[in-house]
Amino acid sequence: MSEQRRPDKPLKGRKNGLYPGISDELEEGMRRGWSDTERGDLEPSEHSGYAAKRRKAVSAAFPGERIIIPAGRLKTRSNDVDYGFRAASDYAYLTADQTENSVLVLEPRPDGGHAATLYLLPRSNRENGEFWLDGQGELWVGRRRSLAEAAAELGLETCDSREAAERIAQAVAAAPDTVTRILRGHDAVLDAALDQAGAACRRSAEEAARLDEELKAFMHGLRLVKDDWEIEQLRRACEVTVRGFEDVVRELAQAVATSERWIEGTFYRRARVEGNDVGYSSICAAGPNATTLHWTRNNGAVRPGELLLLDAGAETEALYSADVTRTLPISGTFSEIQRRVYDAVYDAQEAGIAAVGPGARFRDFHEAAQRVLAERLIEWGLLEGPLERVLELGLQRRYTLHGTGHMLGLDVHDCAEARCEDYVDGTLRPGMVQTVEPGLYFQPDDETVPAEYRGIGVRIEDDILVTADGNENLSAGLPRRAQDIERWMGSLTHPA
Ligand code: GLY
Ligand code: MN
Repeated sequence: MSEQRRPDKPLKGRKNGLYPGISDELEEGMRRGWSDTERGDLEPSEHSGYAAKRRKAVSAAFPGERIIIPAGRLKTRSNDVDYGFRAASDYAYLTADQTENSVLVLEPRPDGGHAATLYLLPRSNRENGEFWLDGQGELWVGRRRSLAEAAAELGLETCDSREAAERIAQAVAAAPDTVTRILRGHDAVLDAALDQAGAACRRSAEEAARLDEELKAFMHGLRLVKDDWEIEQLRRACEVTVRGFEDVVRELAQAVATSERWIEGTFYRRARVEGNDVGYSSICAAGPNATTLHWTRNNGAVRPGELLLLDAGAETEALYSADVTRTLPISGTFSEIQRRVYDAVYDAQEAGIAAVGPGARFRDFHEAAQRVLAERLIEWGLLEGPLERVLELGLQRRYTLHGTGHMLGLDVHDCAEARCEDYVDGTLRPGMVQTVEPGLYFQPDDETVPAEYRGIGVRIEDDILVTADGNENLSAGLPRRAQDIERWMGSLTHPA
């Protein structure tokens, strides 16, 4: 497989290429003899209808302005190997598409509203050899949709993405007073084109950055409340995740014989077979590794008698991710001290989930969970009361470490750039989906706690949908109470 190359490196004369060149006869022959596979039967997908509604909301928020939403580009992993492509979340949200190098442009119409154009990579040209000689040619990477096919499926006008930067720059130059905003940081080519065009329009870099930040905050605010289609996606992500956790429990013996990597690979297999990928690097933390919040090296030993903290989420084909944590006794039953810590985290999670509902402040669930954990830490003699003082000074954080949850959706830490008044200082609304994930972590070298606590880390995390009259736990397919965990593990490892 040494013939693949980057488009900027000509094949002829390629260093260490096994073929010195291409004969005229071969070149001519490769142009001919291919059947027409164009499909004329495609209809707009269900998802594309939702994407159109979302674009309307953007259009209404930015009348008279040009809005540019890039998908992002391939990134080099090493030499001529790229990372797997994952489209930018806002692009996928507004287009129902996930093609690399693409960009959605909302061009303001003089009569109001916007004309939407999707710039996409078309099918490979067979006349100029791109089809088989270019690293992104279809012979190497697989058939793409034609622009007409994509237009039919997505309900959008489509153009060749290789023309996007120039066309946008021309449009900016033709109407210098029209405000142009771009979601920055995804496509260096478009960012640079806009910088140049902006300079020509005498808009300062600071002003352009402010406009772009506003667009980002708006998009993240818009994504806070999920539509019905998104909620179904998150439900599906949780279902796949449940099956991934079951796989891990069934294969714990192999993990004990190898390492945490077996757990990572086991969950990954399920996420890839039933979805697009994992939504984030799985945290497969056995024993004291569970006290490291984002333990993703996953190269530690899995020992009987210790706990496994598994924080993992499958991402659907449409890029919606679950984010679920269970802390499991590797031998199948909790020891007394493990159970004491586990039950405290469970009670904190129950208090947190109970505080999630329409009209509640987003902060309520965090405060409810932290109160329970602080109470227990005082009860166990690890913190000195009174409780209100501990909470006011945040002293419980030495052992609880992180915030109790976050929004969830296309990104695992979803809507992170929304305005604070809409998110962390805001009020919950039906359709929001968040995690509730309290934890207790006693570092192995923490001399402030008795030795029996050291090296224990417990987190329990579920994905909670705010409904019209309360909430729904989308990840309820996995047990949470200690005795239910033990029974469930037993049923998977010793089926009747
Ligand atoms: N699942 C990892 C986190 O929420 O940070
Ligand atoms: Mn989380």
